[in-house]
Amino acid sequence: MMFEFPNRLVLSAMAGINDAEFCRRHPAGLLILGGFNADETSNEAAKKAVRRGRKEFVYDEPLKGIETETKSLSKSLKEKLAVNVRSKSIEGYINAAEIVKKYSGIIEINAHCRQPEFLEIKCGQWLIFHPDKLTEIVKEVSAMDVPVSVKLRGGLEVNYVDIIRELKKAGCDMIHLDAMIEGGGCDLNLISGLSSEAFLIGNNSVVDIESAERMLNAGAKMVSAARAVLKDYQFFKKLLSSSILRKPIRLDSGQ
Ligand SMILES: Cc1cc2nc3c(=O)[nH]c(=O)nc-3n(C[C@H](O)[C@H](O)[C@H](O)COP(=O)(O)O)c2cc1C
Repeated sequence: MMFEFPNRLVLSAMAGINDAEFCRRHPAGLLILGGFNADETSNEAAKKAVRRGRKEFVYDEPLKGIETETKSLSKSLKEKLAVNVRSKSIEGYINAAEIVKKYSGIIEINAHCRQPEFLEIKCGQWLIFHPDKLTEIVKEVSAMDVPVSVKLRGGLEVNYVDIIRELKKAGCDMIHLDAMIEGGGCDLNLISGLSSEAFLIGNNSVVDIESAERMLNAGAKMVSAARAVLKDYQFFKKLLSSSILRKPIRLDSGQ
């Protein structure tokens, strides 16, 4: 499978915010819906998180909710879409991947979230510390012939090179790396160190054209943003005045 993103920009997942209506306003080359919760257990964890004041997508029937948003965003979309997913069960990821495939999207496995309700049920960042489990999820999902991204958090005491190599062997097509530095900022050394390992989306603290271009100069193929978009709904439109950020890019999925 090969596809082209119309520019280098990615709208990063924001639970409780990135529904179809929100995503469609932004001219990024890849729009990431969610994070959604694909099974009953993760949906219940989201309800708990909501009770302590966090924004989450909570549905009576989680898969129906995911399908409604994915279908809606897929209509008349020039850009590519992805769906960021948490689940306790493998079945949850598989069910979500079926929906994503139907609407020609990319499934993004959320190995990033560190909210206690989700760590407790062994998803989100828990998976980075249990790479065998993460690899198993990627293997199952990529066997369905759907493009797979894995969202990782940087700054942890793990061997990212080893993890990414295993994920690629399992069929992962792209890595979305939040290269956060605890306390603030982005670890560009981590981005450049891992950029030769995978098709990399660089994330964290992109606030303007300069910081976005720095991410690409460090070796990322694309660059994502979340908080800056909440501050300024014209954010991506402004970034597209850069000829570097405007350039299309191809991904050969399955290579
Ligand atoms: C309100 C909010 C909700 C988020 N929800 C998710 C999520 O569901 N899944 C995920 O992978 N990342 C989530 N993130 C993390 C962002 O996608 C991004 O990785 C992080 O905010 C760092 O990027 P930034 O500096 O551009 O904001 C969320 C961030 C915010 C601010």
